[in-house]
Amino acid sequence: MSTAVNESAPGGAARLAAGLPRLLPAAPEDLHAHLARYGPTPYRGRTNLLIDDIETSGLTGRGGAAFPVYRKLAVVARAGVRQGRKVVVANGAESEPASRKDELLLGLAPNLVLDGLQLAAEAVGATEAHLYLHYAPGPQILRALAERSSRGLDRLAVTITQAPPRFLAGQEAAVVNRLGGGPALPTFQPPRVSERGLGGAPTLVQNAETLAHLALIARYGPRWFRAVGTGDEPGSMLTTIYRPDARAHIREAAIGTPLSALLGAGDGASDENQTVQAWLVGGYHGTWLPMPGAAGITLDNASLGRFGAAAGAGVLAALPSDRCGLTETARITGYLAAESAGQCGPCLNGLPRIAAALAELAGAGHRRQTVADLQRWSGLVKGRGACNHPDGTVRFVRSALTVFAPEIQRHARGQCSATERTPYLPLPDGLPTREEDWT
Ligand SMILES: Cc1cc2nc3c(=O)[nH]c(=O)nc-3n(C[C@H](O)[C@H](O)[C@H](O)COP(=O)(O)O)c2cc1C
Ligand code: SF4
Repeated sequence: MSTAVNESAPGGAARLAAGLPRLLPAAPEDLHAHLARYGPTPYRGRTNLLIDDIETSGLTGRGGAAFPVYRKLAVVARAGVRQGRKVVVANGAESEPASRKDELLLGLAPNLVLDGLQLAAEAVGATEAHLYLHYAPGPQILRALAERSSRGLDRLAVTITQAPPRFLAGQEAAVVNRLGGGPALPTFQPPRVSERGLGGAPTLVQNAETLAHLALIARYGPRWFRAVGTGDEPGSMLTTIYRPDARAHIREAAIGTPLSALLGAGDGASDENQTVQAWLVGGYHGTWLPMPGAAGITLDNASLGRFGAAAGAGVLAALPSDRCGLTETARITGYLAAESAGQCGPCLNGLPRIAAALAELAGAGHRRQTVADLQRWSGLVKGRGACNHPDGTVRFVRSALTVFAPEIQRHARGQCSATERTPYLPLPDGLPTREEDWT
């Protein structure tokens, strides 16, 4: 697995004007440093003022779906306490193996996320708060919780639960199942967890980064938040960027930033002096974009949507020209198929076939029918799962069939353009396959 690098936004006056970075300090901040920088948690009393501010700010979820945060807050705030419970969860599962931003955020600024968790809890009238992590909590998180508790800062005690290292474990229904003591598997919805979640209680699940933004909006207001980003998609987001050096660079970027500023221009002018053949945007449920065709695109869903892409949880990768995009796609799709919970038809029957067909394409000489089969099967699984996993997987696969069409032709002739065979996109070591790996 690659190492993660906290990469600051471009320096100098431009950086100050843009007000970035907002979320990531250069070194871990303990409670003392956090309070010196931000002051105490700005509780507002049980009013809807924070929800109004979040609506005005335009903050959307940073866990992948970009859903308006105020709408979930409002639903959970309106719902009654059920069986004495109403729940908020900071989702730090980061189950996408290429994403490293939540782990870094929680290591560098745990108090910002914990402030957001407490403020969201207050806004919706929650009775319990949870932090859901894909690793054992690090010393910064444990220290932050202990320091906050000893100073009586938190209104609700925070329960930490560890997620299994599975792709689906961060999906919100899987989160709720795991917090309830069961396997971290998605279940059929509706009802949504905001209406009926943990133990049947209304449950607000927000990504860790989303809560950090919320904590800043509670302090500085919606106008401050909107000072960066676009009119329709305000603010900044954390991105995990892979360039040809194959390390994970975490950078906070204003929404609307040109992707070329984050990924390199793809013309051989990147730091590593490597040409780039394609960009992957939105991670393993994301979309391949051809280079240089997509060079003018920006980091916002309006611009990305014109190419059938979305920012997702901010995973961006520049695929160097010396790698085989088809082989990379087949490898990741094999992982995604193995990660499905196998509960629904499209995952049980569709994804393994799609993965096997891609592996065939990535080999030497394939049946003529294989590309047509892949297109047909992708259409068949779409929209038919209990969660978004089949749809996200086929979005990734279909974009590969388009962007790497010339490579498919080469492989049909028994050739491959790659001169470097080392796997590029990160996957976890040793994929778990047993039933008990879901807990
Ligand atoms: C397969 C799958 C995996 C997901 N993994 C994560 C994750 O690791 N972390 C996360 O915050 N959201 C994840 N999500 C999104 C959650 O279901 C949920 O929408 C999110 O936590 C809500 O927070 P947000 O609105 O602040 O983004 C995943 C969704 C899917 C379909
Ligand atoms: S669609 Fe797939 S991943 Fe989602 S719940 Fe069904 S079997 Fe599991």
